[in-house]
Amino acid sequence: MSDLSRRPDDAAVGRALAHESAAQHVTGHALYTDDLVHRTPHVLHAHPVCSPHPHARVTRLDTSRALAVEGVVRVLTADDVPGTNDAGVKHDEPLFPEIVMFVGHAVCWVLGETLEAARLGAEAVEVDYEPLPAIVSLTEAIEAESFQGGQPVVARGDVEQGLAGAAHVFSGVTEMAGQEHFYLETHASLALVDEAGQVFVQSSTQHPTETQEIVAHVLGLDSHHVTVQCLRMGGGFGGKEMQPHGFAAVAALGAVLTGRPVRLRLSRTHDMTMTGKRHGFHAQWRAGFDDDGRLTALEATLTSDGGWSLDLSEPVLARALCHVDNAYWIPHVLLHGRVAHTHKTSQTAFRGFGGPQGMLVVEDVLGRCAPLLGIDPVELRRRNFYVEGQATPYGQVVRHPERVAAAWDQVMTTGEVERRRREIAAFNAAHEHTKRALAVTPVKFGISFNFTAFNQAGALVHVYKDGSVLINHGGTEMGQGLHTKMLQVAATSLGVPLGKVRLAPTRTDKVPNTSATAASSSADLNGGAVKNACEQILSRLRQVDAGRGLPWEDLVREAYFSRVQLWAAGFYRTEGIHWDSTVMRGHPFKYFAYGVAAAEVEVDGFTGAYRTRRVDIVHDVGDSLSPLVDLGQVEGGFVQGVGWLTLEDLRWDESSGPGRGRLTTQAASTYKLPSIGELPDELNVALLEHAHEDGVVYGSKAVGEPPVMLAFAVREALREAAAAFGPDGTSVDLASPATPEAVFWAAERARSAGSDHVVEGLPGAVPDRPDPTAPALHPRSEQADRGTAGG
Ligand code: MTE
Ligand code: MOS
Repeated sequence: MSDLSRRPDDAAVGRALAHESAAQHVTGHALYTDDLVHRTPHVLHAHPVCSPHPHARVTRLDTSRALAVEGVVRVLTADDVPGTNDAGVKHDEPLFPEIVMFVGHAVCWVLGETLEAARLGAEAVEVDYEPLPAIVSLTEAIEAESFQGGQPVVARGDVEQGLAGAAHVFSGVTEMAGQEHFYLETHASLALVDEAGQVFVQSSTQHPTETQEIVAHVLGLDSHHVTVQCLRMGGGFGGKEMQPHGFAAVAALGAVLTGRPVRLRLSRTHDMTMTGKRHGFHAQWRAGFDDDGRLTALEATLTSDGGWSLDLSEPVLARALCHVDNAYWIPHVLLHGRVAHTHKTSQTAFRGFGGPQGMLVVEDVLGRCAPLLGIDPVELRRRNFYVEGQATPYGQVVRHPERVAAAWDQVMTTGEVERRRREIAAFNAAHEHTKRALAVTPVKFGISFNFTAFNQAGALVHVYKDGSVLINHGGTEMGQGLHTKMLQVAATSLGVPLGKVRLAPTRTDKVPNTSATAASSSADLNGGAVKNACEQILSRLRQVDAGRGLPWEDLVREAYFSRVQLWAAGFYRTEGIHWDSTVMRGHPFKYFAYGVAAAEVEVDGFTGAYRTRRVDIVHDVGDSLSPLVDLGQVEGGFVQGVGWLTLEDLRWDESSGPGRGRLTTQAASTYKLPSIGELPDELNVALLEHAHEDGVVYGSKAVGEPPVMLAFAVREALREAAAAFGPDGTSVDLASPATPEAVFWAAERARSAGSDHVVEGLPGAVPDRPDPTAPALHPRSEQADRGTAGG
């Protein structure tokens, strides 16, 4: 066992503690960025002037009327930018654009004494536009070949040979929608400038270092002129990984130009219309199976909807391509990836970072093909699991594949899956208009940033003369419990009671050059850095102690008087990983996180309305650093995944009318989030036991994102329940999100499926989402030629 993962007896890690801010969260005492406004005198408020067009050239911008509005102090435009007029790291995101690229794109920002003054000022700004043609759907982008960024390929073996040798070949199209982050706290920044011109920005950001860099380059300053602090976020979910930078830069620019603090906080409507979301994807695929239902080959082209700029679309796509296999061994693989350029918000990171979209492809393939192969989907999935020694399509050997099987078997047993499926069969036979189904799906999710350089972290640990400890680390807190875990790690490493350790907010002047708090890796990375700092201090203290076993306070005091350094900067980098993005091969992940979910649903045949009756989850978090936090992450991630797959329905106006390109679901009234009412009637979550992970801090594993993908079990159960309205062996194509409406249409297709149901079932899309982009593969004729069971 490595030193990093060995856990001492009586450790503070592993204890089931409440989140360190739980009490403040629920009593309203927790401070978020925008709460600081009330503690800051003379604040100005920023309001955007947003484009009503999805694509247009700004031909005239006149701010004079705005300046005449009472309380308006200044209007920020491109002319004011002393540095680079760009908010992104790819230099494709002008902060003040000459050409607007989506409905909601901010042309300029108005600063007012009050938010209302700024809003009225924004209304008074005159902008003339020359509308340009706009691409607003993925289908249109594919037809127009409107792409951006690289087009990576993951390949192994010979997919044509794999398909030629297959006993059964199926093909189809899988489409999935994006998702709005809907963090409770919208984007917020508060910027100040001190007497020496030092810029201080408080920002709700998952990536303070990058926010600092963008603010600096917009202002034309070096990084050391800018400090960014993040107290905490009211949720980030990936939406604050790259999107906060421009807002922070606008606030900072306003503060520099006016000498007054500037606050920018988006309203919910602005947040939904202006900021990026989960990428929707379109995938066209061919899959081969042998006679036993083992996958022999998979070919797929994944196209993501990137929106108007690249943002994180390329790494999101790379992670999608690296997760198409999910937990399944596929000998011959050919995966093409591309990012569509559309006139919409710039789609970005969202919990899972492309992993969910990649995995949905193979789960959809298995869910649709199981009836055609005449194999029970539970059995089909189980049969295709990786086993020891096999590698992913990008060449990484899968460590601990037996853990998927262990989690699977545990869910099958504790969830009483066999018994319940027999009961469900009896129930379905007795009920014509209500059908139930129970599906089981696995998760395998790679942990580490694909981009190797990001896998480093720093920490700063102070031991004060009285023996109390203050820690700082490079990660941000967004509700995921990272700070709770870091307190536990520090207390464990130093061997002091938890009460001796406090944590200070994340700031770029404490720990520099940090990576985004993302990829679920923050506890691994920052935990390694905190532990490293503590160990440096401890090794000095041990020399002072010289075997006497002094109590902590006495030892610290003696060390101080002996002039021994009582603080340390810690550093950690993940060993043993490498990735070549040019050929999409390597060993990008330190390890894989595993999980299995079994979900039972009941569908009403008249309306498509459904209920999730019971969900059983076994999830692998290694030796948990903080079991209550991890349990919360599993439950929360699962529910967020269910929202993406079954409820949350982003609708963009794709008509040619005046609203073209507008997000029509821009509030909680039209965008349905999961709530208590959609929770399963029974939700059982267990953490996989005997799951120590060697080489990771105290034997733990990352937990933030993988549980999202446990929600596939609900989608697959809905598919099977819809299929149960038709004859045995019906394969149904279910839209994503599987809203009640989509489930109704799936059930309707199953009902109308007669002897020719295979042709009907694959791969035509739902009537309201036809797919005009699928001509190349002639899936139906291929289906007819090579299809099997019930064909
Ligand atoms: N949990 C809460 N409560 N709020 C969040 O915003 N973000 C998720 C996940 N869990 C999030 C969350 C995402 S997208 C990631 S990448 C991880 O937390 C990031 O934190 P970690 O690296 O500490 O797991
Ligand atoms: Mo999470 S999508 O990596 O911020």
